[in-house]
Amino acid sequence: MLLPGLKIDPDSLVPVYRQIAEGVVVAAKGGKIEPGHRLPPTRDLARDLGVNRQTVVAAYDYLAAEGLVSSHTGKGTFLISPSEPGRTKEATIPRTPWQPAFSRAVEGSKVGGLLSVYQTAIRSDGISFAGSYPAPELMPVEAFGRAMNRTLRDGAEQFMTYGPTAGHLPLREQIASQMREAGSTIDTDDLLITNGAQQAIGLVFHTFLERGDTVVIEEPTYTGALSVLGSIGARVVTVPVDEGGMRPDLLAIALERHRPRLLYVQPTFQNPTTAVMNEARRHELLELAARNRTMVLEDDWAHGVRFSGRELPTLHALDPDHVIYVSTFSKKLLPGLRVGWVAARPAIMERLIALKQIRDCGTSPLLQAALHVFLDGGGLATHLQRVLPAYHERRDCMLQAMERYFPEEVARTRPEGGLFIWVTLPRNLDGEELFQAAQSRGVIYNKGELFHSNADGSHTLRMTYSTASPSQIETGVKILGDLIRDRWPGHSEPPPRKTAESMPIL
Ligand SMILES: Cc1ncc(COP(=O)(O)O)c(C=O)c1O
Repeated sequence: MLLPGLKIDPDSLVPVYRQIAEGVVVAAKGGKIEPGHRLPPTRDLARDLGVNRQTVVAAYDYLAAEGLVSSHTGKGTFLISPSEPGRTKEATIPRTPWQPAFSRAVEGSKVGGLLSVYQTAIRSDGISFAGSYPAPELMPVEAFGRAMNRTLRDGAEQFMTYGPTAGHLPLREQIASQMREAGSTIDTDDLLITNGAQQAIGLVFHTFLERGDTVVIEEPTYTGALSVLGSIGARVVTVPVDEGGMRPDLLAIALERHRPRLLYVQPTFQNPTTAVMNEARRHELLELAARNRTMVLEDDWAHGVRFSGRELPTLHALDPDHVIYVSTFSKKLLPGLRVGWVAARPAIMERLIALKQIRDCGTSPLLQAALHVFLDGGGLATHLQRVLPAYHERRDCMLQAMERYFPEEVARTRPEGGLFIWVTLPRNLDGEELFQAAQSRGVIYNKGELFHSNADGSHTLRMTYSTASPSQIETGVKILGDLIRDRWPGHSEPPPRKTAESMPIL
């Protein structure tokens, strides 16, 4: 514990930054820290307490405004004695009087997770294996432009005003019909168009969960889901993922013991582990959920991005009454459209639509209409014919480079679709140090810990192949392989042999 005696109460009505500031005052009054004492660096204290770094910054700012501490750039923040000049009358006027207005929804440590993945992904310098984006140079820009022009020519006025909250009817009909072809029993009215799958996930979580309510998720899982759950303040119970997805033996225990309100799962190309649940496990999961009367939220984010292997039935196709289904055009087509959807039965849909209306009054009618025209003209099928072989090739290229440059014991998955590979190093390799070293050599990827609800996963990496060229893949993987070999535990000796025990997918 970096500040003696300081404990954060997430359920307190006192904002977290004030709890931290009061903790410093109590420690000072109790003589646990003395004038001149250097307070812990904000990053360290934030990690120690499990809060956002900005919250600690706000606490230190508040103490400074109260004249209790002084900050010196590059040196740190120090407790000052009452006789020091910093403790003047003016100093008691808070510099940031709006701070107490922050809600608990933005205070938690996980809230900024998705933003951090995004910020890593959009860095333009060096070689990036970060983010889970489709290849920008293969995007069907001209074909989509033609669809947009036609939309504007044929019916511009109706798409330039507000549209139905549930979404553009012809687009919903198209999606419903595709889902029926994939085996789902579904009406057009069971569908709501959202601003990407991210909004769909958020709407569902907010429909079922309040602060303190329990949700069962995979460990590791999608950072965007963790960020929403962190913002709600939900109680997260995790079930590990193996090569076949969420483990049913541990799911059974979690459901029975914790009686969650919701189970969030990605059965196909799980982000980040790429695991795919076979059909038997899908049935088992649904049976367990039904037995425990738990609603399932299925996130089928990479639907359509499969370059080999057999398509499996979605959970929604197997049990449409107990599964809420979310998917998106972001990965198979264009993330810039921000068009995704959620499918659910009427009682749930009614609530989702009401919530969607108060969130944003509907997804852009113009973009939905242009997307409908594009899909109607067969644009998606043409695009996938072009892009899927390229992803297949890039995956192979990355796997071959890993084969050449990574120690044999580094586990990597071989996904039949999706956009990335999941890599597992030995647990005692310092993932943070490796990341910093790779970054300084111009190579970035996503650190595994971003996908965990606790601090685990530092020995894992998510490496995206979809956005890198074959020569970038070759160069970047070689650099990473050299760095890993240099840091291999006891690397002068041969690394330990691969065994089932030492090579879990996580
Ligand atoms: C598992 C998963 N779900 C949902 C999303 C959100 O996608 P969208 O761009 O449609 O909001 C992503 C995006 O990376 C994802 O990986």
